[in-house]
Amino acid sequence: MKAYWVALACCLSLPAFAETEHPLLPGYAEQARQDNPAFTGFSAERGKALYFAEQKRDGKTMSCTTCHTADPRQIGKTPAYRKVEPLAPVANPKRFSNPKKVEKWFRRNCDDVFTRECSAQEKGDFITWINSLK
Ligand code: HEC
Repeated sequence: MKAYWVALACCLSLPAFAETEHPLLPGYAEQARQDNPAFTGFSAERGKALYFAEQKRDGKTMSCTTCHTADPRQIGKTPAYRKVEPLAPVANPKRFSNPKKVEKWFRRNCDDVFTRECSAQEKGDFITWINSLK
């Protein structure tokens, strides 16, 4: 019975919660702590740096901005000119609401840019930053 009330309190208060901390962050924080016991919290600054970090790929410069533009509130496009809806939740409220989709695209896009997966800390940093854009 007690657990039921805790669960209910969690989900009823989600919209208010989202204004201060994104609902995906607690899960990433737990993973980040497992990866690194010295983890102390997410950083919007580091998330922003990840977004703009440039890598050489086949002689071209790649970053998250390649497809999502230098302003993630704008509509982007892939190198094949496919339209990409804005990534920042302020411009596109559907973003970062479906954990499966978020994980799928982090995996793909981190691999496109950095040829590796992003860590839980990097994902949390990134969401902290992009969710803070107004
Ligand atoms: C080669 C083009 C490309 C690059 C580079 C790219 N993305 Fe994406 N990204 C996409 C496309 C295409 C989608 C999925 C289509 C859509 O949802 O609009 C997407 C979707 C996402 C999503 C899903 C969000 C959601 O909830 O819908 C996340 C997260 C994301 N990208 C993060 C990143 C990050 C972080 C980087 C840099 C490491 C990055 N992307 C670089 C093309 C790109």
